[in-house]
Amino acid sequence: QKQGFDWYMRKEIFEQPKAVADTLLGRLNDKGELQLDELRMSPELLRRINKIVIVACGTAFYAGLVAKYAIEHWTRIPCEVELASEFRYRDPIVDPMTLVVTISQSGETADTLMAIRHAREQQAKVIAICNTNGATIPRESDAVIYTHAGPEIGVASTKGFTTQLVACYLLGLYLAQVRGMKYGDEIAALLTELERMPEAIQQMLDSQQVVLDLAKELVDATSVLFLGRHVGYPSALEGALKLKELAYIHAEGFAAGELKHGPIALISQDLPVFVVVPPKGRDQLRDKVISNIAEVKARGARTIVLAEGDDDEAAAVADTLIELPKISTLLQPMAAIIPLQLFACELATVKGHDVDQPRNLAKSVTVE
Ligand code: F6R
Repeated sequence: QKQGFDWYMRKEIFEQPKAVADTLLGRLNDKGELQLDELRMSPELLRRINKIVIVACGTAFYAGLVAKYAIEHWTRIPCEVELASEFRYRDPIVDPMTLVVTISQSGETADTLMAIRHAREQQAKVIAICNTNGATIPRESDAVIYTHAGPEIGVASTKGFTTQLVACYLLGLYLAQVRGMKYGDEIAALLTELERMPEAIQQMLDSQQVVLDLAKELVDATSVLFLGRHVGYPSALEGALKLKELAYIHAEGFAAGELKHGPIALISQDLPVFVVVPPKGRDQLRDKVISNIAEVKARGARTIVLAEGDDDEAAAVADTLIELPKISTLLQPMAAIIPLQLFACELATVKGHDVDQPRNLAKSVTVE
């Protein structure tokens, strides 16, 4: 059932426009309000919470890092993101006013499940973002937002990630609506932009050739760095994770602003460095990222720059340019991750690895 694709993973990468559209389906009512019927958590309760803690593992944790930027910006509720495996062992401050949000594709990840149990013992309310109907995590949570990615078979998460982002955006906007921070027209405008995402993702898929060629060219790389700022930072982390998992090479994601605080020492001749550039209009951030690219390029790095097509300054420091569509900064990870997923899939294919069953990995990690 790979439908002509060599790997389930590649098929699932290409399913993302539909998976994202399906996860958005039926969320706006005729009054232009966001509705999350399945949530079954009263607006009164959602108005009372004073802190959000997102807990997850791996790729889902990186989706949570993106969510923090969006949720805090839209709701002004302080939001922490924590690895599920760390959460319960550090005596976290959680009380009945805390909303714990877990993100899990499988709904069976042991660390995430243990985190939920711990949070509920402290009387916190728990919302699960999950792709698997009736899995243990949603069953043990107070409420669920299902992603509608369909079954994810490739061990490396792809459509799981982008649909988790959608669910996080929906939750953030819903909280903003319930708490009176955003009104019908603003929500509708943001949802319209979200509804254009399947098209933006398709555009990234249609222009995959540059990434496929790059994978062939970089097949002997032993180390690859990924840099980004703001939501580009978790995108960089996720790009690096995909490469570790599938190509078995050293890959690291950094916040671009940290470069001078250490990682720049790693830059050597021809080291491939992927950089996610914020959209034009976010010029304070964008200028800094572009000067980071110039810094690594001056030290001999091979720069692969993800930037808007008309960003001439970014193009000027790019050895390879991967064009991103025009979208708001907060939504950019949904487009930026596509070429990074494709790159990891292709590099592993060229190296002759089993992309769907990477060594040492299991699809769902049911032991702590
Ligand atoms: C990475 C990957 C893992 C999972 C992590 C959490 O490609 O698949 O990092 O994201 O094990 O799994 P879930 O989302 O099922 O809780």
